[in-house]
Amino acid sequence: MNKRLKAIEQLVPKDRITADIGTDHAYLPIQLVKTGKCTKVYACDIRRGPLAIAEENIKNAGYTRQIPVILSDGFEHVPMDTDCAVIAGMGVYTAVGILEKAHNRLSLLKEIIVQVNDDVPVLREWISDHGYTILEEDIVTDKKHTYMIVVFSADDHSGYSEEEILFGPVLLQKKDPVFLQYWQARKQFLEQVLPMKKPAEKPAVVKEIEMIAGMLES
Ligand SMILES: C[S@@+](CC[C@H](N)C(=O)[O-])C[C@H]1O[C@@H](n2cnc3c(N)ncnc32)[C@H](O)[C@@H]1O
Repeated sequence: MNKRLKAIEQLVPKDRITADIGTDHAYLPIQLVKTGKCTKVYACDIRRGPLAIAEENIKNAGYTRQIPVILSDGFEHVPMDTDCAVIAGMGVYTAVGILEKAHNRLSLLKEIIVQVNDDVPVLREWISDHGYTILEEDIVTDKKHTYMIVVFSADDHSGYSEEEILFGPVLLQKKDPVFLQYWQARKQFLEQVLPMKKPAEKPAVVKEIEMIAGMLES
């Protein structure tokens, strides 16, 4: 379990029947059962290869009864008693594609915990456009990478501002040191690459720099 997975584990409420979608090695389901946080976790993946490894790891940990392994594209074969879902370690468009195909399922879940490896604002914009509610967020640095985790539910929300979509509504409230460091570094990076950008790309970069500067000053 690395820092990223530990942070995700922390965000799963106790006693949820959880589905880990795109489980790969099943480290997260194993940890959730090992710590006593969950008594049942579905380890789901679209590919047989990762599932075979997951199955082996689950067997070695002694949790075959608590962690069923399910071959599933997104939520397709995820049992209906699931009340919390985790989608982690993927690109944003893969994660959003999974969510897009699962609209009818989302209202049955108390929390959907998503950690994407790139472009988190695309995920927040998708949540905002669908009128869903961001419940919690976290940011962690692990081996020089910074990861943001977004927890949302299908409860109604009137939508998020441009600032909330870029920075995260909860992270913006907390403004913890990892968050501030990340955005200071991001601003520096954007300022360095700005002169190399094509004219058509410059306005978006300038706008992001201005938004970051405004947020850091407020
Ligand atoms: C990089 S691994 C992430 C593993 C783990 N969730 C983590 O955060 O460390 C991504 C996994 O997602 C799976 N995956 C990709 N698209 C999927 C889909 N539509 N449904 C289920 N699993 C999917 C891949 O097969 C792969 O095992």
